[in-house]
Amino acid sequence: MPCLIQGLGCNSLENLLEIKDLRVSFPTDDGDVHAVDNLSLSLKAGETVAIVGESGSGKTVTSLSVMGLHNLRSAKLSGSILIADGDGVVDVVSDDQEKVRNLRGRVVSMIFQDPMSSLHPYFKIGNQLAEGYLVHNPGKKAEAKARAIEMLDLVGIPEPAKRVNDFPHQFSGGMRQRVMIAMALMNTPKILIADEPTTALDVTVQAQILTLMQKIQKEFNMGILLITHDLGVVAQVADRVSVMYAGNIVEQGSAEDIFYRPMAPYTVGLLQSVPKISYGKKERLFSIGGQPPSLINLPPGCAFAPRCTYSKNAPAGSCDASLPNLTGVTSGHVSRCHSPEAQRPALFAHNQERAN
Ligand SMILES: Nc1ncnc2c1ncn2[C@@H]1O[C@H](COP(=O)(O)OP(=O)(O)O)[C@@H](O)[C@H]1O
Ligand SMILES: [Mg+2]
Repeated sequence: MPCLIQGLGCNSLENLLEIKDLRVSFPTDDGDVHAVDNLSLSLKAGETVAIVGESGSGKTVTSLSVMGLHNLRSAKLSGSILIADGDGVVDVVSDDQEKVRNLRGRVVSMIFQDPMSSLHPYFKIGNQLAEGYLVHNPGKKAEAKARAIEMLDLVGIPEPAKRVNDFPHQFSGGMRQRVMIAMALMNTPKILIADEPTTALDVTVQAQILTLMQKIQKEFNMGILLITHDLGVVAQVADRVSVMYAGNIVEQGSAEDIFYRPMAPYTVGLLQSVPKISYGKKERLFSIGGQPPSLINLPPGCAFAPRCTYSKNAPAGSCDASLPNLTGVTSGHVSRCHSPEAQRPALFAHNQERAN
């Protein structure tokens, strides 16, 4: 049915993106790699949701799932990834490939960590930008070129009408990342997935790129799913945060919840690992001891338990017996931990004081 009253929830989806119970595994000779397990999250227009976790926790697998970019011969997916498209909804997991391809670049776009490997070295960037536009606007070459120049200008590339004819190697790292952002924006997508967009850049350029993304987000009222291992980046831009460990979300909440009222021991560990500036005082950087588990033979209990300094505060044996559910007494703030929620803030605060 066409939407008669704009903005009154005609769309059958309240959010731009709703991931529900996503599971992704890769069968291998050694067994199935359970890269993502039971992940749910949502993203609204104008909002930035961060997924944070250490390397190997399943962040990129999640972002590729939303883009429908897994090779379905080597990846097994279940659950649903609902994306709003006008009045309709597409499920990236179960709808046919043609429908998903039609969303890519137009409704949902992605920028990757390493712009050099995503840009073809032999083609002028103008042609590479135009390509994504032409997929959804066949034959409109002049329009595509004009749009490429407009987008390069928007992302702060000086003399865009001239630079459109340059090759990727003629741009610095930061400028290449701007080109990648321009490329992602060619069709004014509703959702931008940014997978470690600033990891390869130095800190000053990183800040400029994040500021640019925020400016563009405002202009287009875009929803951004920001994937990062860097809590500094999260602090700068995220409204809500999902913390991932070994393929599971271990804590979800507003950025304030995560930074000021962390409820999962893994989040506390991540926060303690952030370098602090303290003049005249030598500081040893904290890092969480131990290694993440193998994703092939996940233990039946909490995957973080072998590294957790709080398991003694949970009922005896519970951490090894079962994975705790995502629960929380404050609305919108949930975490996985067997130790009693009411006791955790005092426990974490005590430990933090000792670490300082
Ligand atoms: N195609 C694949 N086949 C087998 N294992 C994979 C594949 N892609 C990713 N993985 C595994 O899934 C886990 C999560 O990977 P990834 O999402 O890339 O982590 P990150 O959080 O660092 O982005 C890793 O253990 C990785 O080795
Ligand atoms: Mg990754």
